[in-house]
Amino acid sequence: MSIKNVVIGLLCGSAALWAANGYAAEGAAPEGTALYSEKGDQTCLKCHDEAPYNAIMKTPHAVKGDARTPAATHGCESCHGPSAAHASNRPPKGQKRTPPGVVFSGPDASPAEARAEVCVGCHRGGQRMKWVGSQHEANNVACNACHTVHAEKDPVLVKTTQPEVCFTCHAKERADSFQYSHHPVREGKVSCADCHNVHGSPGPKLVKGFTINATCYTCHAEKRGPYIFEHQPVRENCDNCHAPHGSPQAALLTERQPFLCSSCHSASDNSNQSGGWFGGKSSLAGGHTQSYYLTNRSCLNCHSNIHGSNSPAGEAFLR
Ligand code: HEC
Ligand code: HEC
Ligand code: HEC
Ligand code: HEC
Ligand code: HEC
Ligand code: HEC
Ligand code: HEC
Ligand code: HEC
Ligand code: HEC
Ligand code: HEC
Repeated sequence: MSIKNVVIGLLCGSAALWAANGYAAEGAAPEGTALYSEKGDQTCLKCHDEAPYNAIMKTPHAVKGDARTPAATHGCESCHGPSAAHASNRPPKGQKRTPPGVVFSGPDASPAEARAEVCVGCHRGGQRMKWVGSQHEANNVACNACHTVHAEKDPVLVKTTQPEVCFTCHAKERADSFQYSHHPVREGKVSCADCHNVHGSPGPKLVKGFTINATCYTCHAEKRGPYIFEHQPVRENCDNCHAPHGSPQAALLTERQPFLCSSCHSASDNSNQSGGWFGGKSSLAGGHTQSYYLTNRSCLNCHSNIHGSNSPAGEAFLR
C-alpha cells in the first residue's frame, strides 16, 4: 500500500490505540498498522455492510454535517482505530486478517481502558465529568458494556429497554423491581437514569444529586418542606424508611408497621433506643402500647404527617 492511499493516524489517542493492539506507544508500529483507510466508512462497508454493523449509519454518529462525529472524521476508524492494514490485508486461506486497531466485543476485545478511551476522547464533558474513578470505571465496566452503538436506537437510551441492560449485572435491583411496591421502572415511567448518573456522581451510590434526598426532591418536591416541625430522619435520608427499588410493604417502606416506627421509637417502655429523643416525656408508654394503637394504619392513624408538619400544633405530626 502506498503512503498516498492512507492517512497517518495523528489524532490524539492513536498512541493508546497502538498500545491497545499490543504495540509500544512510543515505538514504531509495524508498517501500516497505525494508518487510516483513505475512504473511511466506504472502505470498511465494502465487507461489513451487514446487520447490525451498518445500522450505525442511521445514528447521530453518522451525521457528516456535524464536524464532531466519527462520520466527519475517520468514520469507522474513529472508534476502531487506524485499520488500513486490516482492510487491505489478503491473508492466506484459513488465516485471520491483521486485526483492526480496537475490537470492542468477543474474544479479541481490547482492554476496557482502551475501549473507554476511544469514547472518552469525544465524550469527556457533560454527564461524564466524574467518569474517571467512578464505580463503573473503577470496575472495568466499559462504555460499551451499556451502550450499543451499532443499533438504530441504543437500548440503554430508551426508558422501556434501559432496565434490562442494567439487570444483566444488577440482579438484586431486578428482583426488587418485581416487589409489590416499586417505582414504575419496568413500566417505563421512571428510569434508572432518573435517579442515577451511571457515568459518575459527586453523591453516594451514583445518585444524580449531591445527596439521596436532593435526588428524591426532583420529583417529590413537596417533601422538601420547609416544615415548621421537621421529622429528623426525613431530613437526614429518605432511605431511613424507604427502599427506592422496591419493597413488599406499601409505599416502598423498609418495614411493616409498627416496626418501622419502633425501630427508632421504643413503644414498650418510656425510654427509646437512642436515649434522649423524648426529652423525659413518657407518652410512648401507657396508651401507646395498647393494641388499638397498632392496628389498621398503626402509628399513622394519628401521626399522619410523618414527613413534617406546618401546623403550629404539629409537633407530634398529628396534623
Ligand atoms: C476485505 C474485507 C474487509 C474489509 C475491507 C474490512 N474488514 Fe473488518 N473484517 C473482515 C473479516 C473477514 C473479519 C473477520 C475476522 C477475520 O477473518 O480476520 C473482519 C473482522 C473485523 C472486526 C472484528 C475483529 C475481531 O477480532 O473480532 C472489526 C472490528 C473490523 N473487522 C473492523 C473493520 C474496519 C473498521 C474496517 C475498515 C477500516 C474493516 N473492518 C474493513 C473483512 C474486512
Ligand atoms: C462510535 C464508535 C464506533 C463506530 C463509529 C463504529 N463502531 Fe463498530 N463497534 C463499536 C462498538 C462499541 C462495538 C461493540 C458492539 C456495539 O456496541 O454495538 C463495535 C463492534 C463492531 C464489530 C464487531 C467486533 C467488535 O469490535 O466488537 C464490527 C465488525 C464493527 N464494529 C464494524 C464497524 C464498521 C464497519 C464501522 C463503520 C461502518 C464501525 N464499526 C463503526 C464502536 C464503533
Ligand atoms: C469522533 C468523536 C466520537 C467518538 C469517537 C464517539 N462518539 Fe459518541 N457521539 C459523538 C457525537 C458528535 C455525537 C452526537 C452528540 C450530540 O448530538 O450531541 C455522539 C452521540 C453519542 C451518543 C448519543 C446517541 C443518541 O442516539 O442520542 C452515545 C450514547 C454515544 N455517542 C456513545 C459513544 C460511545 C459508547 C463511544 C465509544 C464506543 C462513542 N460514542 C464514540 C462523537 C463521538
Ligand atoms: C452503566 C451503564 C453505562 C456506562 C458504563 C456508560 N453509559 Fe453512557 N449512558 C448510560 C445511560 C443509562 C444513559 C442515559 C442517561 C440519561 O438518560 O440521562 C447514557 C447516556 C450517554 C450519552 C448520551 C447523553 C449525553 O450525556 O450526552 C452519551 C454520549 C454517553 N452515555 C456516553 C458514554 C461514554 C463515552 C461512556 C464511557 C466513558 C459511557 N457512556 C458509559 C449508561 C452507561
Ligand atoms: C457489565 C455489568 C454492569 C452493567 C451493564 C451495569 N452495571 Fe452498574 N455496576 C457494575 C459494577 C461491577 C459495579 C461496581 C460494584 C458494585 O458496586 O456492585 C456497579 C456499580 C453500580 C452502582 C453503584 C453501586 C455502589 O455501591 O456505589 C450503581 C448505582 C449502578 N451500578 C447502576 C447501574 C445502572 C443504572 C445500570 C444501567 C444503566 C448499570 N449499573 C449497568 C456493573 C454493571
Ligand atoms: C427512585 C430513585 C431510584 C431509581 C429509579 C433507581 N435507583 Fe438505584 N438507588 C437509589 C438510591 C437512593 C440508592 C442508594 C441507597 C439504596 O440502595 O437504598 C440506590 C442504589 C443503587 C445501587 C447500589 C445498591 C447497593 O446495595 O449499594 C445499584 C446497583 C442501583 N441503585 C441500581 C439501580 C438500577 C439498575 C436501577 C434501574 C432498574 C435503579 N437503581 C433505579 C435510587 C434509585
Ligand atoms: C423521576 C421522578 C422520581 C424520582 C427522582 C423519585 N421518584 Fe418516587 N415516585 C415517582 C413516581 C412516578 C411514583 C409513582 C407515583 C404513582 O404511582 O402514583 C413514585 C412513588 C414513590 C413513592 C410511593 C410509592 C407507593 O407505592 O405509594 C415513594 C415512597 C417514593 N416514590 C419515594 C421516593 C424516594 C425515596 C426517592 C429518592 C430516592 C424518589 N421517590 C425519587 C417518581 C420519582
Ligand atoms: C420516618 C420514616 C420516613 C422517612 C424518613 C421518609 N418517609 Fe416517606 N413515607 C413514610 C410513611 C410511613 C409513608 C406512608 C404514608 C401513608 O401511608 O400515608 C410514606 C409515604 C411516602 C410517599 C407516598 C405518599 C405521599 O405521602 O406522598 C412518598 C412520595 C414519600 N413517602 C417520599 C419520601 C421522601 C422523598 C422522603 C425523603 C425526603 C421520605 N419519604 C422520607 C415514612 C417516611
Ligand atoms: C430512623 C429513625 C426513626 C424512624 C424510623 C422514625 N422516627 Fe420518629 N423521630 C426520630 C427522631 C431522631 C426524632 C426526633 C426526636 C427529637 O427531636 O427529640 C423523631 C421524632 C418523632 C416525633 C416527634 C417527637 C417529639 O417529641 O416532637 C414523632 C411523633 C415521631 N417521631 C413519630 C414517628 C412515627 C409515627 C414513625 C413511623 C412512621 C417514626 N417516627 C419513625 C427517629 C425516627
Ligand atoms: C390513637 C392515636 C395515636 C396512635 C395510634 C399513636 N400515637 Fe403517638 N402520639 C399520639 C398523641 C396524641 C401524641 C401526643 C401526646 C403527648 O404528647 O403526650 C403522641 C406522641 C407521640 C410521640 C412523641 C412523644 C413525646 O413525648 O412527645 C412519639 C414519638 C409517638 N407518639 C410515636 C408513636 C408511635 C411509634 C406509634 C405507633 C407504635 C404511635 N405514636 C401511635 C397519638 C397516637
